[in-house]
Amino acid sequence: MSPKSFINLIIVLVLLNLSIEHYHGAEGKNNKLVPKEEDMELDMRLKIQNKTPVKSIKTKLGDIYDCINIYKQPAFDHPLLKNHKIQMKPSVIQEERIHKPISNTVSSVERYKIQGCPSETVPIRRTSKEELINAKYLNNWIKPRHFVSAETFAEKAYYGGKASITDVNPKVDMDQFSTAQIWIQNGPAEELNSIEFGWAVYPQLFGDNLTRVFGLWTIQKLIYTLIFIFIIIVQADGFKNTGCYNMLCPGFVQVHPEYIFGEYIKAKPYGEKPTWFDFSVYRDLESGNWWFVNGFENTEIGYWPKEIFTHLANNASTVRFGGVAGGDPGKPTPPMGHGYLPYYNDRYTCTIEEMKIVNDQGNFVDFDTSNVQLKNDTKTSCYDLIFIGKEVYHGITMFFGGPGGDCP
Ligand SMILES: *[C@@H]1O[C@H](CO)[C@@H](O)[C@H](O)[C@H]1NC(C)=O
Ligand SMILES: *[C@@H]1O[C@H](CO)[C@@H](O)[C@H](O)[C@H]1NC(C)=O
Ligand SMILES: *[C@@H]1O[C@H](CO)[C@@H](O)[C@H](O)[C@H]1NC(C)=O
Repeated sequence: MSPKSFINLIIVLVLLNLSIEHYHGAEGKNNKLVPKEEDMELDMRLKIQNKTPVKSIKTKLGDIYDCINIYKQPAFDHPLLKNHKIQMKPSVIQEERIHKPISNTVSSVERYKIQGCPSETVPIRRTSKEELINAKYLNNWIKPRHFVSAETFAEKAYYGGKASITDVNPKVDMDQFSTAQIWIQNGPAEELNSIEFGWAVYPQLFGDNLTRVFGLWTIQKLIYTLIFIFIIIVQADGFKNTGCYNMLCPGFVQVHPEYIFGEYIKAKPYGEKPTWFDFSVYRDLESGNWWFVNGFENTEIGYWPKEIFTHLANNASTVRFGGVAGGDPGKPTPPMGHGYLPYYNDRYTCTIEEMKIVNDQGNFVDFDTSNVQLKNDTKTSCYDLIFIGKEVYHGITMFFGGPGGDCP
């Protein structure tokens, strides 16, 4: 790193701390009241960030997508990606399917896609001012949160993770969120690199209470916590000007012309035969980029470039599977999964099956279930999980969920 960019990093750090303090200072006040100069700044930022579209599309769900030239997408505003060469396809096409083509996969229903972007463009969700304000003041992923997870024990390096997860729609309040997800991580706690993906219900990010595909990446403490949800927030001049606000920043390279983060997943109600959605992230053997591939058809959505990571640049030390739920401080926490403590039945409990890791050959394989660590960070009457190991028809399987409530 050149001395100049190092100085820039320091500046970012300082600005970031200021904005964190600002955030905490703003707690308890009306978050939606934005001072005039900040308002102007937000306008400026929106202008930068919502690139000139080749075309715009409004979906049935009311989301607006801009078709942006693939080489000009927000990711390339990231200072470390200035010279990045875009990868259009993974070098190894993963042939292996998790699910045999059986009728209960989501692929049998129509997937939610953004149709109509011209060639050479990709759909990028348009960011609203309100979302920027939410992102800035409510600092979504840093809200108080709880998790339950089953973790592979790091006896060696991992190159990705994959699972099939039942589609559930936990009921959350406006300021809460609830997920079912996979984590791919490396690095010591204070410098943890993490890719998280799966489904989430998250009104402040998605603008509704639907279950949607999400993905995010973070690099703890290094300089900033960078997050990519399906909203991409951009700073054209890197982080020089105002800092990164500790939140949504560019990094994910969208490659697929129709499927996106934020894809709506139709959930089945409690007690009904579930539908499933497949999620995987794996490190490309040649480029080292972390590809996000989803759905029954192995749709290649895009990737997190190797350059943006430190500890995840080469491999992961942990792959975790489970759920996260959280919300604003001082309130009961929301349900996870179906909102009941787990039970051995995929109609009544959010279920993760066909759990796999990726080995150094780039293959999806089972992991050693005798070494799995089960973790939680609150009372087991709030959230819990049941890990059953390898099941004949469903591969490595777990059940998780809980009502939340008053969870310390
Ligand atoms: C989501 O549901 C909660 C609780 O019913 C409601 O308060 C909130 O307005 C809903 N949010 C949206 C965006 O529909
Ligand atoms: C995994 O990544 C770490 C951190 O980058 C590195 O030190 C280690 O050598 C890598 N292991 C393998 C097997 O590549
Ligand atoms: C986590 O779960 C275990 C049992 O699975 C329980 O004994 C422990 O108390 C839980 N952790 C916390 C912090 O409550």
